Amino acid sequence: MMKGALQDISHAVGNTPIVLLHKVTGGVPVEIYVKCEFLNPGGSHKDRLASNLLRRAEEDGLKPGGTIVEATSGNTGASLALLAALRGYKCVFVMPDKMSQEKIAHLRAFGARVVVCPTAVEADDPRSYYQTALRIARETENVFYANQYHNPANPEAHYLSSGPEIWQQTGGEFEVFCAGMGTGGTLSGTGKYLREKMPNVKIVGVDPVGSLYYDFVKQGRITKPFSYKVEGIGEDFFPTSMNLKILDDIVRVDDRECFLMTRDLTRLEGLFVGGSGGAAVAGAVKYAQQMLERGEANVAGRPARILVFLADGGHKYLSKIFNDDWMRENGFLEDSPGIGTVRDIVQGKRAIVSARPDARLREVIDQMKTLNISQLPVVDHGKMRGIVAEVDLLRALVSGGKTLESPIAEVVEDDYATVTPNTKIELLQGVLADAKVAIVEDGGEIVGIVTKIDLIDFLAKHRASASSPPAS
Ligand SMILES: Cc1ncc(COP(=O)(O)O)c(C=O)c1O
Repeated sequence: MMKGALQDISHAVGNTPIVLLHKVTGGVPVEIYVKCEFLNPGGSHKDRLASNLLRRAEEDGLKPGGTIVEATSGNTGASLALLAALRGYKCVFVMPDKMSQEKIAHLRAFGARVVVCPTAVEADDPRSYYQTALRIARETENVFYANQYHNPANPEAHYLSSGPEIWQQTGGEFEVFCAGMGTGGTLSGTGKYLREKMPNVKIVGVDPVGSLYYDFVKQGRITKPFSYKVEGIGEDFFPTSMNLKILDDIVRVDDRECFLMTRDLTRLEGLFVGGSGGAAVAGAVKYAQQMLERGEANVAGRPARILVFLADGGHKYLSKIFNDDWMRENGFLEDSPGIGTVRDIVQGKRAIVSARPDARLREVIDQMKTLNISQLPVVDHGKMRGIVAEVDLLRALVSGGKTLESPIAEVVEDDYATVTPNTKIELLQGVLADAKVAIVEDGGEIVGIVTKIDLIDFLAKHRASASSPPAS
């Protein structure tokens, strides 16, 4: 072996650099550092996962010539395909149809078979990409179903690799570790290792608007998930590879914030990253602002430090995030305001009315009658407990065995989604197709409630003003 050479490319996984950000942090006096996982040979942090998954599978008897099957949004597939090429395995990858063409082409370049499934179906629908992968794995012989969502080797990969590497590189001289939440492998494994070494470190997850995680962590409620554009993070079910208990906090970002930050990271910091990297940094900047407000921006005479995990690179998003036409068509660029945002609907509406969980049905009915409203949120010390609508009250009284003296907590429904004031109105239509109402939440506070009729009303007014002739 020649001096300085590696045995093969799999030995180049890891040892990714950590870099200080300068221009995208919005002037918050907290240092934000990024770990450049996109520099891994397979293009993302999933190289660490793939190495550990295959190590475990081979220990369990997987032999060259066998087939690796996985439900993957692209990066895990790319990393498994790379290792499969080296070690002589076949690959079948199943992915949702919202994924970019570049990701699919990338997998096919390694000789993998790619099966594309609809995104807009429930996770337990037989057409979903999780269920399809499961079926293919069942029907294939000499198979290894990687199952990253439920395989303990996923968080273990980061416990054995990312965690120790970060500890070695930094000596623990940072206060917050921040990463996007997908399968949870990164946060659960890295978080566990760092917590063991640094009991005071804060582990912060970043979740896109539309995913289940945020409301569950903040409110303990399972709300209606809805689709969003950023790839690789957020979920519509709870993978067992995600240990939510490891989290100290969670920050929510919307598509627009993710994509504008992704472009800024590239143009201002020279970091050509994917959308989840933009999401993680946008989330870290928000968290830094919260630290400043709490008086935590200074630690022992120096600025507090946040370390952010940048999962993958920008190449696979050239036709989306880095394409102005795509950004404009989706209303993500400054010069493309679209129809507007949820803020435009809620502003001007009367203040939000809510009920406490111990309020009696009778009181809530009176409240709804007096204020002429058809539904209201049930809130317990700032925490959303659910939503109650006329139809729920009717059902409870007529066939649900409740009386006017029953507490409203017994009648609340989970049939709502949460959005932020910045959520685009184009997205709301999809949100309200599945959920009864959209609760508008800003910095942990409920600031509004949007029903289907509010949306229709807004759209009708918008159309009318768009089509009215200009005043002469
Ligand atoms: C681009 C991208 N970012 C972030 C993540 C989230 O990482 P993890 O699954 O370890 O939570 C993924 C996972 O699929 C990803 O592909």
